[in-house]
Amino acid sequence: MRSDTVNEPILTVKNLKTYFYTEDGVVKAVDGVDFEVYQGETLGIVGESGCGKSVTSLSVLRILDEKGKIVDGSIIFNGIDLTKIPEEQMRKIRGKDIAMIFQEPMVALNPVFTVGEQIVEAIVLHQKVDETTAKKMAVDLLRKVGIPEPEKRVDEYPHELSGGMRQRAMIAMALSCRPKILIADEPT
Ligand SMILES: Nc1ncnc2c1ncn2[C@@H]1O[C@H](COP(=O)(O)OP(=O)(O)O)[C@@H](O)[C@H]1O
Ligand SMILES: [Mg+2]
Repeated sequence: MRSDTVNEPILTVKNLKTYFYTEDGVVKAVDGVDFEVYQGETLGIVGESGCGKSVTSLSVLRILDEKGKIVDGSIIFNGIDLTKIPEEQMRKIRGKDIAMIFQEPMVALNPVFTVGEQIVEAIVLHQKVDETTAKKMAVDLLRKVGIPEPEKRVDEYPHELSGGMRQRAMIAMALSCRPKILIADEPT
């Protein structure tokens, strides 16, 4: 699905090494990974359990736990190296430019807010729209990802949705900011 008109990769990962410094020693979770993603392209990363797929994704977004460190390599997005920028700048990229769908949607969805409230929050955070418009956008997104009766679902809490619907709500939330890159970590 490589576009002919765009020849610059949108994301270039080179020699990425992410290690965890645990009490039992150093876990070389990712040890020299290279890949490129082009606009309009879907890249699948395949490998056995524990080979570092999730840690690669978490590294791109820089949401590793405190034991995890990117020790080498570069992650070039839009010409900037994500491994080098301050956290504040990274925060603006996260969710807006690069979004992620997690394996377990209950972890990412907040149980005390409705699905709609969470999508509206994500929209308002990154786009200049008021809450009424954002709510309409949320309903449209829920419809787009195949949630039946989105006008009703938008006011429901995550626990009121089935697992599959929750996953779709997660995807809607990730898409709400129109990210340039969407990372999906084994979505069921
Ligand atoms: N928070 C962590 N602390 C220590 N080791 C970790 C942590 N997260 C992942 N690992 C280790 O990193 C390796 C890669 O894990 P992961 O990226 O989750 O694999 P997968 O390809 O199945 O997604 C595994 O050996 C895993 O045990
Ligand atoms: Mg994984």
